[in-house]
Amino acid sequence: MRDPASFIAPAYLNVGESLVRELSKLMSVPGMVSLAGGYPGPELFDRDGVREAADAALRDMPVACLQYGPTDGLPGVREAVSKLLAARGTRCSPDDVLMTGGSQQGFDLLVRTLLAPGDAAIVERPTYTGPLRVLKVAGVRTLTVGVDAHGLDVDELETLLRDAATPRPKLLYVVPTFANPSGATMPRARRLKLLALAVEHGFVIVEDDPYGQLRFDGEHEPHVAGLVDEVPGSKPWVVHLGSFSKVIAPGLRLGYTVAPPDIRRPLVLAKQLDDISSPGFTQATVQRYLAAGRLDAHLPTILGAYRERAGAMRDAIATHLADRVDFNIPQGGMFMWGRLRDGTSTRALLPHAIEEKVTFVPGDIYYADRADAATMRLSFSTPSPEQVREGVARLGRAIARLHA
Ligand SMILES: Cc1ncc(COP(=O)(O)O)c(C=O)c1O
Repeated sequence: MRDPASFIAPAYLNVGESLVRELSKLMSVPGMVSLAGGYPGPELFDRDGVREAADAALRDMPVACLQYGPTDGLPGVREAVSKLLAARGTRCSPDDVLMTGGSQQGFDLLVRTLLAPGDAAIVERPTYTGPLRVLKVAGVRTLTVGVDAHGLDVDELETLLRDAATPRPKLLYVVPTFANPSGATMPRARRLKLLALAVEHGFVIVEDDPYGQLRFDGEHEPHVAGLVDEVPGSKPWVVHLGSFSKVIAPGLRLGYTVAPPDIRRPLVLAKQLDDISSPGFTQATVQRYLAAGRLDAHLPTILGAYRERAGAMRDAIATHLADRVDFNIPQGGMFMWGRLRDGTSTRALLPHAIEEKVTFVPGDIYYADRADAATMRLSFSTPSPEQVREGVARLGRAIARLHA
């Protein structure tokens, strides 16, 4: 008997349900404080601004909203993205921009067009789970480079690349600013060295930047893509992924990929096969939202809330966890990354935490190899400051129970 279940391609058999999604189901348990999710605070969505932008888009650009559109995106929204990046010091032409279904699709298209099974790619250790799963499905050999409080360890990267036994990577995926999960931000010097290594060894840097605009303290670092003029020969080696998920709304499913022409061309072809184009309606809505100045007007509200929540988390950590856990305290983004000082696995901690009615993400899921099981990710984006304080206090009690 033929069985459709046996038809599933091997690459898709062991991808697994994401633990983060499983944990997010616990969010609906009454009284549970979730420090696990990576979602934007829902009360921070600019509902009026998006509604007005959607109305204006339908009124003024009905055909762009409702008809099939160009695969690489509406010209007006690509131009708006190029202006958005220019305001952060990164120069690109609207012709370099490809609108995608979130930055997640941008990475998937890159892997499909650049990497064949058996090719090598480098990721951070730890890194975001989305790309890890894309690389796994693609049969790519994934190498890792460590992360410290200042992001990707470029000296370790250099040693890895110089090692004759290392397979030559085609691509390096990095979240240089307020990384998921580490919260770390690479200083300028590391970004420059990364560019120099890409030129010397010939690999594509994929800079994923969904959190860069969420800086609530300190000074902005330039994008890696914004430093290409300082490192001769680096421009063809850099792809920049951006997203409106964290600054407007993930439900829009809109992001963008800025790529050199030789890389962008096959991406457009792959996207054509995938979804023909990203929805015209959401693109036009974002175009009108940006043109109306709503992002600049609303961002301070989001940043103010995240600053307060992160501050509450930092203080609660100092009160309840400081003697047992080391933490990176970021100046933006959504995440704090911790490590149980005695090396105990945070998987073992999780059931105690759930009993205390708090959730977090055990850190081991963020590793392609050499997982540090004592790590954990806390998010401060969705809970209120009171919930943050209560959640961290509960975590302190869960850790005490684990060691009792
Ligand atoms: C580092 C990173 N990249 C990409 C994404 C996905 O973004 P998008 O909604 O634009 O696909 C996330 C979402 O959590 C993320 O943390």
